[in-house]
Amino acid sequence: MVTEKSAIFIIFGGSGDLAHRKLYPSLFRLYKSGFLKDHFAVIGTARRPWSDDYFRETVITSLKDYFDDDEEIMQGFAKHFFYQSHDVNDSEHYIALKNLAAKLDDQFEAGHNRVYYMAIAPRFFGTVAEHINSEGLKTDGYNRLVIEKPFGRDLDSACELNGNISKAFPENDIYRIDHYLGKKMVQDIPNIRATNAKFEEALNNKYVSNIQVTLAEAIGVEDRGGYYETAGVLRDMVQNHIMQIIGAIASDAPEAKEADVIHKNKCDLFGSLKEMTPEQVDKDFVRGQYDTDKLGNEKAYRQEDKVAEDSNIETYTAGKLEFDSKRWSGVPFYVRSGKRMPGKASRIDIVFNSNVTELGIKANTVVTLLIERTDNHSILINGIDYKESGQDFIKFPEEGDFDNAREAYESLIIDILSGDRVHFTLWDELRSTWKYIDTVEERWADQQPDFPNYISGTMGPDAAEMLLERDGNSWIWD
Ligand SMILES: NC(=O)c1ccc[n+]([C@@H]2O[C@H](COP(=O)([O-])OP(=O)(O)OC[C@H]3O[C@@H](n4cnc5c(N)ncnc54)[C@H](OP(=O)(O)O)[C@@H]3O)[C@@H](O)[C@H]2O)c1
Repeated sequence: MVTEKSAIFIIFGGSGDLAHRKLYPSLFRLYKSGFLKDHFAVIGTARRPWSDDYFRETVITSLKDYFDDDEEIMQGFAKHFFYQSHDVNDSEHYIALKNLAAKLDDQFEAGHNRVYYMAIAPRFFGTVAEHINSEGLKTDGYNRLVIEKPFGRDLDSACELNGNISKAFPENDIYRIDHYLGKKMVQDIPNIRATNAKFEEALNNKYVSNIQVTLAEAIGVEDRGGYYETAGVLRDMVQNHIMQIIGAIASDAPEAKEADVIHKNKCDLFGSLKEMTPEQVDKDFVRGQYDTDKLGNEKAYRQEDKVAEDSNIETYTAGKLEFDSKRWSGVPFYVRSGKRMPGKASRIDIVFNSNVTELGIKANTVVTLLIERTDNHSILINGIDYKESGQDFIKFPEEGDFDNAREAYESLIIDILSGDRVHFTLWDELRSTWKYIDTVEERWADQQPDFPNYISGTMGPDAAEMLLERDGNSWIWD
């Protein structure tokens, strides 16, 4: 059942790419489905001096890229949009923002609720949070702060950022977005585990040979070279998205529904990540950077806009993670992510060993969970659509569920409006994952990589294949 929500959204970076490509289309879907109806307003803020009318035009223009609804519905939606020119470093502007929010709250009867959304460069997150607090923007309704990635670039910077925002907002009001946690399959994993006793019984070191998580892209960095030069794929994809996917598949007690229990289990899992020596990093982590393609048509990473000619930033990584826990000790978790790979893939491959025959499951069964559908199947077993495989090992959501699934941002915005923090990352989780990633980054910083080391359109450096061959394993997605 759809319950209408009431809030004033203040979107810092309201003229930017994220707001136009993700947030406004998601808000529009919520408007069409009735979650947002009469009692909401959106204030977009950024420095450029736009009028309300011009802002509404930009919103409608971006909606037209995704929807073919009547212009009238879009106009009705856009009437809830207002614009306030604002430099986040300027204290006076927060007073103007506060007054506008109060006026719109009266006009739309928004229940004094505020969602402060940081669709702005990370260096401003702390400044904005502090000003919201010091300039008295908070109301007697709820006041929720939404933070985009990246949350720091190492443990120290993440601690500093967290220190700044937590002076202004209690942890319970902070919603750190990891949009993979908004994806249907990632959200369904606990449910699949809780409702498939045999699968759950097999998810441990007695029955699992290894688990593989792949997030691959066919495209290069495109126009994000400037950002990528400050990050690299390990920070951009592994520290957050891949770790959270592992959290969904490998944490204990998937039947838990309470956010506190779910997060505690995830924290325990990340806390049990086996520490690595620098020599182990050399052995267990591979990095790569794309060269041009075989025909020399595509740009090498070092030829991309805003990328240094001698850049040592990695566009590919593969690694072997291990956990010191009763459940997972001895099971390698192989992860990889890269740009300019042969295709797009977002998947988890769970490779069972021969002990599973005890449970009546075929030896060496591979269960693949597709996080994003790149073909017509949501779930595969041994490469076969589970429905055709004739196995009743696991029951998955129906295909139709996936077709009707909400977009990740839409689902996360509903959670924010409902005060449900299950699908957001907590500070304790980030602390453990950054600590782990820092070990790799620190070792890499001490060494000169031999870049570029893979051809665009290929599976990455050969060392990534050897990482698994060494253990007698191989990548399932190849
Ligand atoms: N784009 C994505 O798909 C995506 C995905 C995941 C995470 N993110 C994160 O989302 C955030 C926004 O990314 P984006 O791609 O939307 O960036 P963007 O297109 O560059 O937008 C930045 C916004 O910030 C505003 N801004 C810049 N300086 C400002 C200042 N001093 N005071 C007030 N406003 C200021 C800009 O407008 P003015 O120039 O008019 O001020 C613009 O509206 C970043 O943290 C990014 O890492 C983005």
